Amino acid sequence: MKVAALIPAAGSGTRLGLGPKALVKVGGRTLLARSAAALAPHVAEVLVALPPGEELPADIPARAVVGRATRQASVLALLRATDADTVLIHDAARPFLPPGVIQALLAAVQTTGAATAALPVADTLVRAAHPRAAAQHWGTLTPREGLWAVQTPQAFRRLALLAAHEAALSDGYAATDDAGLLARLGQAVALVPGDARLFKVTTPGDLALAQALAPVWDA
Ligand code: CTP
Ligand code: MG
Repeated sequence: MKVAALIPAAGSGTRLGLGPKALVKVGGRTLLARSAAALAPHVAEVLVALPPGEELPADIPARAVVGRATRQASVLALLRATDADTVLIHDAARPFLPPGVIQALLAAVQTTGAATAALPVADTLVRAAHPRAAAQHWGTLTPREGLWAVQTPQAFRRLALLAAHEAALSDGYAATDDAGLLARLGQAVALVPGDARLFKVTTPGDLALAQALAPVWDA
């Protein structure tokens, strides 16, 4: 099985507010460099979708494609740029990637065909009463039993995921991740235990957490 790591890194980091997020540094290294270095030992090649106009930094052992306007479109460009039969898709914005999670995903994709890192939800979940109002109020409690928060990496047979992406494109269907595109077609996706350290750096608070964790992770 030829495995490629596909890293969508073309986002503009609007919520963080520091420019293209994949190129933001924590503990002296960019989020992208950390994600690519974690994946490289497990795969035959690493492909990165970069923001238009950005160059791949020299220290990243990867091939670059030009990213698109949405994450979904950036991943489709990556899927079309490799001939690997199996792909590991991982957000650049999740820089702390334990090797055990990668190994578990590669085992699960062989048996189930698709797998994602995910964690059981630990917080109480509530839907706001009027989600678009300025002030939020408690609306409906959503029991968390059986609910998982989906992370990346996610592992797929490339041609199956490519078909799901092409179906979504022709239907105008938008998803926040790739496993959701396959699941929409009724295909099985294994849930593999993720890791709290796989959180996505989305907001300034997440960046503060990542800066605190980096020296511990690197030690
Ligand atoms: N991504 C991408 N192409 C896009 C949008 C996002 O490759 N057009 C990537 C991001 O670089 C990131 C991952 O998808 O690694 C998850 O996206 P997100 O956390 O939303 O990052 P941004 O889109 O950069 O952030 P924001 O939504 O706050 O602008
Ligand atoms: Mg985004």
